[in-house]
Parts: sequence; C-alpha cells; structure tokens
Amino acid sequence: MTETIIKATDLKKHFPISDPMPFKKSTQSVKAVDGVSFDVFKGETLGIVGESGCGKSTLARLINQLISPTSGSVEFNGTDLASLGIKEIRSARKSIQMVFQNPDASLDPRKTIESLIAEPLVIHKIGTKESRRKRVHELLEIVGLSSYHASRYPHEFSGGQKQRINIARALTLNPDVIICDEPVSALDVSVQAQVINLLKSLQKEFNLTYIFISHDLNVVRYMCDRIAVMYLGKIVETGTFKEIYEDPKHPYTKALLSAIPKENPYEQRERIILKGDVPSPVNPPSGCHFHKRCPFVMDVCKNTRPELQELDEGHKVSCHLY
Ligand SMILES: Nc1ncnc2c1ncn2[C@@H]1O[C@H](COP(=O)(O)OP(=O)(O)OP(=O)(O)O)[C@@H](O)[C@H]1O
Ligand code: SF4
Ligand SMILES: [Mg+2]
Repeated sequence: MTETIIKATDLKKHFPISDPMPFKKSTQSVKAVDGVSFDVFKGETLGIVGESGCGKSTLARLINQLISPTSGSVEFNGTDLASLGIKEIRSARKSIQMVFQNPDASLDPRKTIESLIAEPLVIHKIGTKESRRKRVHELLEIVGLSSYHASRYPHEFSGGQKQRINIARALTLNPDVIICDEPVSALDVSVQAQVINLLKSLQKEFNLTYIFISHDLNVVRYMCDRIAVMYLGKIVETGTFKEIYEDPKHPYTKALLSAIPKENPYEQRERIILKGDVPSPVNPPSGCHFHKRCPFVMDVCKNTRPELQELDEGHKVSCHLY
C-alpha cells in the first residue's frame, strides 16, 4: 500500500514587491507558488519539473520549512508542520534534508570535510567528538569517498566529489526525505550519471523518499517514479513516469518533452516551439496561465482557469482540452 509521507495542500507563497515609495505598503507580489497540492509517497521519487522561475525552489523551501507559506499547509507523516512547536520543528527538520544545485553553496571553504559533515550532529547535540568522527568516516565511504578525505578542505575536491560531500551531509541525521534541488545541473554529463546512480543506490539502502527538482526532463526520467510539471507557480500535470513520458496530456508537458531526444531516433516527437517567454509571476495571464503560449488555445482558456482534474487514477491535468 502507498503511504503518504508528505502532503502539500493549496500551498501558496507570494513575495511582496517592495514599493519604491517609503512607508507605502506594497500591493503587488510575485506569485512564486500559487496553489499547489500533491502527495509524496514513502520510498518513491517525485520529480518536479518546469522552466526557470516557475517556483520549484520556492516549493522546496516551503516543504523544508525554510520559509513559511502565505497560505496552505504541508503535512509530514500526517502532522501539519505549521502546528508544531520549536522543538518539534527541529525534530521534523532532521527528517527532511536538502541537497542544492551549487555544490559550493553549503560548503564553508574554511572548514574541513569532517567538520562540515559532522555539523548537523553538533547543531543537534548528538554524540561525542569520537562518535561523530566515526559517523563522518562511515558517511564518506557510503557516498563513495574515503575516510582520509575527512581532513581536507572543499577546494581540494571536484564538483562531483563536492556533491557527494553534500549528500553525505544530508544523510548525517538519517533523514526520511531528501529534497534534491537540481542536484546535478552544475555537473558534467558523465559526472551527472554517477551522482544519479549514487542517489538511487542510497535510496534503496536507506529507504529514502526523494523530491527531485529539475528543469531537465532527461535527468528526471532516470530518477523518478512520478512527475509533477509546474508552470508559473502551479502544477499543470502530474502522473507516473510512464504516463508523463508516453502519454503526456497538457500542451506544456508535450512541448517540454518534444525538446528532448528519444532513445529511438525514428520515434522522435515533432518539436513544439513555444511562442514568447514565460510570463511574469507578478501579473500572470488570466484564465489558463499558459494561454498566451499554447498552440491549442481556445476562447474559454482566456478567461476561465482550468482546474487540476483526474483523467486516470493519479494522472491529473489542468487543461480545457479534457
Ligand atoms: N525571496 C524572494 N523574493 C522575491 N521573489 C522571489 C524570491 N524567491 C524567489 N522569487 C521569485 O519567485 C519566482 C520563482 O522562483 P524559484 O527560485 O522558485 O524558481 P525556480 O523554478 O526554482 O527557477 P530555477 O529553475 O531558475 O531555479 C521567480 O520569479 C523568482 O524571481
Ligand atoms: S487550457 Fe487552453 S490554453 Fe491552457 S493548456 Fe489547455 S488548451 Fe492550452
Ligand atoms: Mg530553482
């Protein structure tokens, strides 16, 4: 049976735009995440894809409680995270870790790898110096590095190795969920595959649940059981990996897929070139947010927002064509 570990309900994050006039309250906002609902099942990898600026990282930060939502809720194992006290939030934070796109971002160059990987244990006052050292050595081996790397500094490692160190750091506290925000986008293609394989084997070994964020559907297809496609702060389609790749419904999903090469070149999809750029999340278009770029736009699309509705079990789409 599928067990829900994370549940997001009508999650919104609107960032107010500061007004150039002092003391004037801002009336406009960036609707970075604008009413997103989804479940993440225990042990699966849920992919979140979409173009730059569609709200993927903001969604990740909301789930990890790094920022609080404008409205809506995030439940972890059935508990609304907003209802927790400081102590309980700290404990929930241990269970949900993140790996970011830039391998350098969370590696302080002045600290040794040992102190970087042990840091979460120090923050949560877990273990002794000796037991933490043991754990660091164990984690280095788990991510394919060696215990002698512990005394080195971040600049002595390649991008792929740094990402392994970040993964070790994310594993330090034995999390249940790891949110990977574009974890391989900054790496060479050959190294991308190694890091993806590492993530996959760790998932099996430690029974991890992943939320895997990427703008690259090619990367996502090697990782994910289910996929949610985002456009301008909303989920426009969600389904299993197979449904999304073999039977995409939303015109935006079709356009994204048409841009990636198929394994069999004779099956190549016809490339759909979208008109224009992604509209501003400050003033998203009326009706369907995608209507100004959609090759199938109808009159109804211009004024009526399509709801995310279920076509087959679990395969949902928000589009007036269905
Ligand atoms: N702290 C903030 N204040 C104001 N606007 C923000 C803030 N953080 C993000 N945004 C805006 O919210 C929107 C979504 O940003 P977000 O970083 O979530 O996108 P993304 O999908 O992760 O993009 P990318 O693929 O480039 O990483 C963007 O328009 C961005 O400029
Ligand atoms: S609702 Fe209309 S504009 Fe939006 S994706 Fe569907 S067909 Fe295109
Ligand atoms: Mg991002």
